[in-house]
Amino acid sequence: KDTFAAKTIRLLCGFFFHVPGCWIYFRRMKELVFATHNEHKVLEIQAVLGDEFRIMSLHKVGFSDEIPEDRHTLEGNASQKAEYVYERLGMDCFADDTGLEVAALDGAPGVFSARYAEISNEVKQGETIPDANMRKLLKQLEGIHERRALFRTVIVLIISGKQYTFEGVVEGTILSLKKGTGGFGYDPVFLPNGYGKTFAEMSLKEKNKISHRSRAVLKLADFLKNYPE
Ligand code: IMP
Repeated sequence: KDTFAAKTIRLLCGFFFHVPGCWIYFRRMKELVFATHNEHKVLEIQAVLGDEFRIMSLHKVGFSDEIPEDRHTLEGNASQKAEYVYERLGMDCFADDTGLEVAALDGAPGVFSARYAEISNEVKQGETIPDANMRKLLKQLEGIHERRALFRTVIVLIISGKQYTFEGVVEGTILSLKKGTGGFGYDPVFLPNGYGKTFAEMSLKEKNKISHRSRAVLKLADFLKNYPE
């Protein structure tokens, strides 16, 4: 008579051989660490990648180091973060960095987008960081007609020790006044080309269809889905 263990093994084998979808699913399920402490970004990327991949935040893998991010380009920062995590965890991983690049300001704030007002000590008391950043940006562009700008996201993936870079861009213009209350960062002053509303006036779904970040993530997803086992 079969033991319970033998029965269980036979049942599992039958399941895998007779339901090919499950076999492919388990064979292709790939785990990747996203070198970020931002759980919201992890959920966003997991949604694009689907369940063939398991994206784990640094928190999930118990990694609490403050990761250095002091290079002068988005590519440099993304690569620095991915390398830092790969060297310490030895797990396939990726990191991202984003900036707003304004043509009339020679690409500023660029890699300094998050700290644009802070680096010149222009944050007023009681003001939020994004508000201070936008105030500084609008001041820099006062009287300037050339308002072209773009958001750029760079993702660096390290898989089996090799680095791959993906980029997503959305072009637009910088308004002279804030419009809309949604989104985050510079969204209220960014009007994407071909749209009659700012990122801050769009639903998350609308923004995600055209955003720099989702464009970069889709390229990453495409690469991973075609990556050899
Ligand atoms: P991060 O690399 O994603 O942390 O982005 C750096 C900075 O760029 C943020 O702190 C924001 O100021 C700005 N930023 C990034 N993505 C967006 C966006 O989708 N809308 C508006 N601002 C953004």
